[in-house]
Parts: sequence; C-alpha cells; structure tokens
Amino acid sequence: MDDLIFAKVDKYITDLLTPEDKALTDTLDSIEREGIPSISVSAPQGKFLQVMALACNAKKILELGTLAGYSTIWMARTLPQDGKIITVEFDEHHAAVAQKNIDNAGLSSRVDIRRGKALDILPQILTNGEGPFDLIFIDADKQPYKEYFEHALQLSRSGTIIICDNVVRNGEVVNENTTDDRVQGVQRLNKFLSTCNKVTATIIQTVGAKEYDGMAIAIVK
Ligand SMILES: C[S@@+](CC[C@H](N)C(=O)[O-])C[C@H]1O[C@@H](n2cnc3c(N)ncnc32)[C@H](O)[C@@H]1O
Repeated sequence: MDDLIFAKVDKYITDLLTPEDKALTDTLDSIEREGIPSISVSAPQGKFLQVMALACNAKKILELGTLAGYSTIWMARTLPQDGKIITVEFDEHHAAVAQKNIDNAGLSSRVDIRRGKALDILPQILTNGEGPFDLIFIDADKQPYKEYFEHALQLSRSGTIIICDNVVRNGEVVNENTTDDRVQGVQRLNKFLSTCNKVTATIIQTVGAKEYDGMAIAIVK
C-alpha cells in the first residue's frame, strides 16, 4: 500500500459522491495563487462535515480555523436561510481570502468570519450568548486542542457534535516520547476525551491524497 492508492480512492470518492463545484475549485485555486498552505480538508471530508451538519439539523455552526473557507463553504451550504456559521481565523491574509471565497459562493449572509486568536474569541462568543452551537469543527493550531474542546463544551447543548481534525498526525500520536508540541497537543485532547464524562467520543483514522491522520468525533450527552 502506498499513498498513490489513497489518492486514487480519494479521487474515486470525489468523482462519485463529492464533486466540487466552481466555488469550491475557485477556493482551492485561491490557496495556490495566494501562497496559502494547502491544508484544507479533502472533498470527501468536506462532505462528511455536511453529513454531520445535516445529521444534527444544524442551524448554528462554529469553526476554529478558516484558512481560505473551503470547509466553511461545505458546512455553510447545509444551513437554512436563518442559519449561521461563525468561523474563527487569526491570520488576516487567510481571513481576507476566505471572505472573497465565501462571497463568491454566495454565502456571505450565513458566514461570519471572526478575526483573532481562537482562545481570545471563544470567551467573547460565550459572553455574547451566541451559543449553543449544533456542530463545532475544531481545525486551528493543535497545541491548545484540549482548551478548544473545553470551550466547545461550554458552547454546546445535549446533542451537539464536536469534530476535531488532525488528531492522529501520521501515526505520531502513539509516540509517547514525541517532542512535537502539535502531537503533544492532540495527545492531551485525546486523553481528555477518554476521561470526559460529558461526551461519547471516538477517533476515526483518515487517509487520503494528502495525509494519514484522523478525526475525533464527540457527541455531547
Ligand atoms: C488547517 S487550517 C484550517 C483549514 C480549514 N478548516 C479547511 O479545511 O478549509 C488551520 C487554520 O487555523 C488558523 N489558525 C492557527 N492558529 C490559530 C489561532 N490560534 N486562532 C485562530 N486561527 C488559527 C491558521 O491560520 C489556518 O488558517
């Protein structure tokens, strides 16, 4: 087995079930053109986020880590007219490119990009009473993942789905001696999930054209 088969199967799934329209391919083009890292979710993963949003009938979604808005667009498309996704991004350039992509997708009325560090913005969202959210997607920097998850819990209701991307990190997550603080960040989260009695959670490994990784999926009790 090599990465080639994962890329081929990703393309097979994308062609079959998750074709990207122009707004999504424009978003991927903007990432390349603007020199932004190519670290969006894949199309099948974007569709997975859609499926999760539909499963919980999401009207309010929170995302940490917008990048160019690719995953935001997948999720926002499931929202009813009066639905809203708040997506948090601290890099001004990423946020500006994302805003253009969201406008281009015709989703401006449903997407609210909050500029700043997630650990600063999350308490504001709580204080403003903007929760609870139906779906929360955590996909920003990995070091504070446990803290992000704890904030997410405060912004949840019974039945909220919380998804955290990149929690396997090419399998490094099993390396107890790792010195990579991003791996240590997801290890702290994963351990927290094992003791947190407020959620039912699991981790699903993911493979694809870009990476071997995994998503933690938790549902709030
Ligand atoms: C993996 S990318 C997000 C990908 C996006 N969810 C998608 O799939 O299209 C992570 C993003 O989080 C942003 N980020 C990193 N640290 C952050 C922080 N402390 N607060 C908010 N955003 C942050 C980065 O600038 C980057 O744009």
